[in-house]
Amino acid sequence: MRIPEQGLAADEVLSRLESYRAHDVTWRDGRTFAYVYDAGEEIEALCKKAYVSYLSDNALDPTAFPSLLRLENEVVAMMASHLNAGEAAVGSFTSGGTESIFLAVKTARDRFRSMHPGATRVEMVLPDTAHAAFEKAAYYLDVVPVRVPVDSQSFEADVPAMAAAVNEFTALLVGSATGYAHGVVDDITALGQLALKHDLLLHVDGCIGGFLLPYFKRLGGVVPDFDFRVPGVTSMSVDLHKYGFAAKGASVVLYKDPSLRRFQIYACSTWSGYTIVNPTVQSTRSGGPMAGAWAVMHAIGDDGYLALARRMFDATRRILSGIREIEGLKVLGEPHMNLVAVAGEGLGIFHVADEMKARGWFIQAQLGYRGSPANFHLSINPKSEQWVDAFLADLRDSVEAARKLPTGDSAEMVSQMFSGIDASTLTPEMFQSLLQVAGIGGVSLPDRMAGINEMLDALPAKLREKLLVEYVNQLYKI
Ligand SMILES: Cc1ncc(COP(=O)(O)O)c(C=O)c1O
Repeated sequence: MRIPEQGLAADEVLSRLESYRAHDVTWRDGRTFAYVYDAGEEIEALCKKAYVSYLSDNALDPTAFPSLLRLENEVVAMMASHLNAGEAAVGSFTSGGTESIFLAVKTARDRFRSMHPGATRVEMVLPDTAHAAFEKAAYYLDVVPVRVPVDSQSFEADVPAMAAAVNEFTALLVGSATGYAHGVVDDITALGQLALKHDLLLHVDGCIGGFLLPYFKRLGGVVPDFDFRVPGVTSMSVDLHKYGFAAKGASVVLYKDPSLRRFQIYACSTWSGYTIVNPTVQSTRSGGPMAGAWAVMHAIGDDGYLALARRMFDATRRILSGIREIEGLKVLGEPHMNLVAVAGEGLGIFHVADEMKARGWFIQAQLGYRGSPANFHLSINPKSEQWVDAFLADLRDSVEAARKLPTGDSAEMVSQMFSGIDASTLTPEMFQSLLQVAGIGGVSLPDRMAGINEMLDALPAKLREKLLVEYVNQLYKI
């Protein structure tokens, strides 16, 4: 494609854009159980208005746009009070959970380096359930991630095992409230004690749970202590674009006090241009996401969030008890929130996801990793409430249908092909043939994904990663 020779009329542009959506999930109907967080049409419309009104303003320079400094400070303050961060707390508005986590890792790394000049490496200790964003941050920032297996029944961090992984290079401990995959809160109190004992930073990843957990607690849910009131917690991430219901591009990273955030901020004077001092990764920053988040938080309010939480709380209880009655399905752990992972017993769990898709539902496949078996994930939305009975009925039918489908063939083949092969020695051509074997011809994916997911599930993690890179390298092509 090239830039059109002549500009098109606005109507034409907008209708073409709309037509591109034809094959997307239709999430506003409430039948999509991942990726979207929906508080309803009115909030969406208000958010868009506020977002667009600040879209072109630039938070790069708070002296030129004091309005954005104020918006950011107010959004951060609301989150600090929501998470009981105390009077001294500070934070930053970021583009999402990954950026918030990235900054918390950078802060820990730079604090460690300042305390140990000449240190040859920096490590962080994190449970297997901590989000992949930590690995990504570690990779970009030259920090060594030390992953520790979690309890195989509760899927909570194994704190004694994490304690055993701490050494003289450890800068940071990580816990989740909740983890994405299984929706459980780690024992943050025990992690806090461990952090205090070794003078380590402790980041609690509340990207998905930080906003909603306090409401689940008020509704009578079992929620372990997880916020800044726990001694030893030094930073937290909380996404507004998840259960804050703001538009995408909205998260906050919080620190117990400004002496920590200093390590997050980047300044550069060794160039000939304007002054650069960036608290976050981005330099130019649209005011849209902050204004959208600020508007949504003011429009929903504490009472509105509690009401939305009640719908998710009730829907989750009913869905959990319904799933527990279906033979062949097993809920992993005891979710503390509205995120549920479900494994299969005696059937191909990825077939269940395909069967549900054929019945008009989107549920998310999660590959197995160490103690966590292959499963499907549900993020339960307020709108899920109206669908619970229909969802469970289709789930029962999907499980019956899945029982009749062959499972394990591609997994068997792949593990024979690749047993004992070192991922780093495989060429792009070999991956190409693997993609063909998996049924991924070109870039289009088949309607049914079970075969591909089973194959990926059977591959060692490093091979999975390589294959995914090859695939995406083909997908984004002109
Ligand atoms: C617990 C947790 N941490 C981090 C992230 C990453 O957030 P983002 O996708 O906004 O970068 C997620 C995303 O779902 C999450 O659930």
